[in-house]
Amino acid sequence: MSGFTHARIEKSLPLMIALVIVAISFGGLVEIVPLFFQKSTTEAVAGLKPYDALQLTGRDIYVREGCYNCHSQMIRPFRAETERYGHYSVAGEFVYDRPFQWGSKRTGPDLARVGGRYTDEWHRVHMINPRDLVPESNMPGYPWLARNPADDGLIQKKMATLRKLGHPYSDDEIARAPEALKGRTELDALIAYLQGLGTAIRSAR
Ligand code: HEC
Repeated sequence: MSGFTHARIEKSLPLMIALVIVAISFGGLVEIVPLFFQKSTTEAVAGLKPYDALQLTGRDIYVREGCYNCHSQMIRPFRAETERYGHYSVAGEFVYDRPFQWGSKRTGPDLARVGGRYTDEWHRVHMINPRDLVPESNMPGYPWLARNPADDGLIQKKMATLRKLGHPYSDDEIARAPEALKGRTELDALIAYLQGLGTAIRSAR
């Protein structure tokens, strides 16, 4: 077994690459795998409910309109963040978010705890034309949301699919979902979604 020395590894690029990958994967697995088994990362925080039919519809509109391009939903555990936005985000708040909307771009403020911060009416005016409330805002207006009906005919399928993934929807909730969307607009749905954000953990302020 002469020759299998470190010098040989260093001189063979493919071998070096393969062994570097092995070494890094071990480091990664040691950090990542335990998270799948920790309660604090896999279980919902107390009081967290899956999105109801209207909120779920609003969430899909949030994704469709690309709000995450300007807004994060992830308060980091730094004083400057918690003073401004409230309690830092914890993993158990996102178990019903598929996919989560953490984001990383903050052209606008973080929205992880925007729920309850403003009235529905404030959001209504702000979403149609942000500059009516914040003159210096560069957020686009979304006036069409107030005209589109919330029900796209897919809500029951979406809820049934999420139930398969572990969201605790009852048969009754799924059966009544179209009724919950009746007569509501996409703007109503988006506002219902925003008003629920981050409310399971009340701000420590
Ligand atoms: C081009 C970037 C941009 C996009 C896209 C955008 N926003 Fe904003 N948003 C901002 C900025 C900047 C502000 C801060 C000024 C203001 O309040 O209008 C803001 C503020 C907000 C606020 C008030 C937050 C607070 O704490 O005061 C809410 C709520 C909001 N946006 C929701 C949305 C939603 C929902 C969407 C998608 C439909 C969206 N935004 C898309 C830039 C954006």
